Amino acid sequence: MRIGIACDHGGFNLKQEMKIRLKTLNFDIIDFGASAMDDDDDYPDYVVPLGKAVSAKEVERGIAICGSGVGASVAVNKIEGVRGALIHDCFSAHQGVEDDNINVICLGGRVIGNELAWEIVRTFLGASFSGAERHRRRLAKVAVLDHKESGR
Ligand code: RB5
Repeated sequence: MRIGIACDHGGFNLKQEMKIRLKTLNFDIIDFGASAMDDDDDYPDYVVPLGKAVSAKEVERGIAICGSGVGASVAVNKIEGVRGALIHDCFSAHQGVEDDNINVICLGGRVIGNELAWEIVRTFLGASFSGAERHRRRLAKVAVLDHKESGR
């Protein structure tokens, strides 16, 4: 699976750690930055390109990390076709994919530690959308908003 990862300074250390661990599982990782720790950088500069790559299906799933995960989540959900969620527990990491077909997980690098983040990331990447009719119906009601927002 090809996945994208992005962060600002608040998520930099966690991103580096998740990259190292993901490589050991042979994931194909595209890093959208930040490429170095910069206390003055801005999460949209990295999270938005990641979201666009998810939307364009250049990567299958994304991991967006800022200090709390909140800014990353707000920014990435502005992009059509992205379904991102701020998740800090394992139940939501799989149910968010199974029921809601999320394609981006957002994490707070200042909120959770490496071990829990790693369990959450592995759970997210290992989960699949159930495809159940009721979930498709609900997602279709959300998807129409993409088109309303973009005027199409
Ligand atoms: C940056 O200091 C911090 O505000 C950012 O990483 C994030 O937590 C925003 O939601």
